[in-house]
Amino acid sequence: MSISLQSRNGHPGSRILSVASYRPRTEVSNEAVAALIDSSDDWIRRRSGIESRRHAAIDENLATMATAAAAKALADAGIDPGNVSAVLVATMSHRGRATTVAPLVADALGASKAGALDLGAACAGFPYALATADTLVRGGAADHVVLVGAERMTDIIDEHDRSTAFLFGDGAGAVVVGPAARCGIGPVVWGADGARHEALRFDETGILRMAGPEVFRWATSVIPEVARRALDAAGLSAGDLAAFIPHQANLRITLAAAKALQLSPQVHLATDITTNGNTGAASIPQAMAALPDVSGPALLVGFGAGLAYAAQVIELP
Ligand SMILES: CC(C)(COP(=O)(O)OP(=O)(O)OC[C@H]1O[C@@H](n2cnc3c(N)ncnc32)[C@H](O)[C@@H]1OP(=O)(O)O)[C@@H](O)C(=O)NCCC(=O)NCCS
Repeated sequence: MSISLQSRNGHPGSRILSVASYRPRTEVSNEAVAALIDSSDDWIRRRSGIESRRHAAIDENLATMATAAAAKALADAGIDPGNVSAVLVATMSHRGRATTVAPLVADALGASKAGALDLGAACAGFPYALATADTLVRGGAADHVVLVGAERMTDIIDEHDRSTAFLFGDGAGAVVVGPAARCGIGPVVWGADGARHEALRFDETGILRMAGPEVFRWATSVIPEVARRALDAAGLSAGDLAAFIPHQANLRITLAAAKALQLSPQVHLATDITTNGNTGAASIPQAMAALPDVSGPALLVGFGAGLAYAAQVIELP
């Protein structure tokens, strides 16, 4: 016998209602990092654009940082934690397997009715998870979703590794996604090149290793193409953008992408990496939270280990 199950009605669209960031208390200078890797403040600034980054203290673990960002985003959106349907955490630096981070965050927030799930697509994690949140809301599985990108990169990098020690930082960024009468999160464009996964991989001790120049070349070639496809999918052109918020991997990558897309000087370019480093899946929401008061469409592009990438246009909260 074939049966027809009852389904839930979704919403016509979804949008980002609020964005917030948590930055660890400890600011770490280039000089402090350079001392361990035979480098210099000058080299780090020239090759990456980074001036400083934050490192988490013992009490600033993945769940506490994620919760702090999420609680602020919920308060800014005026949403009661009890009305959150899902908590999603995008991360690559969580060491545990059985307990994912999202249930800890949901519990700390008091989001007692929320489903809780981690998503892993490394530094591309935020746009992947945002596409998931949008689908949950439009499909009727959720009304309000808390989505956090959170990383404690200092747990998975070697402070003596010249290609990563200066690059990465710790932190969390969160958005609340909720129902909307029209579409405020454009179609996602995504992909992955698993054949090149060795360029960014965990070694046998769980430390992230990177072939920097190879990743650099790949990122600068993939971003303009996926960005154009995301603009097309949203029915916009680069001239319509208010902001460009790529994953904050290296300032040179951001500037090269902006040039390739021929963005006008009126488009706000996210350059949060200068004082935040590369915070993996947290970098896009953190950079969004750091923008000055900007409204209108913003183009997000995530890319990283996998090698995975994803992009979409959103309406800024
Ligand atoms: C990591 C990165 C900044 C290195 O810059 P680069 O210009 O590619 O550096 P290279 O590895 O080609 O090395 C260039 C020179 O700098 C030296 N060097 C490498 N790391 C150094 C460091 N930390 N400090 C000082 N010198 C360094 C090298 O020994 C080399 O010297 P040589 O020319 O005398 O042989 C760059 O490759 C990068 O940003 N890659 C992408 C990283 C990224 O986006 N990762 C995250 C994706 S999520």
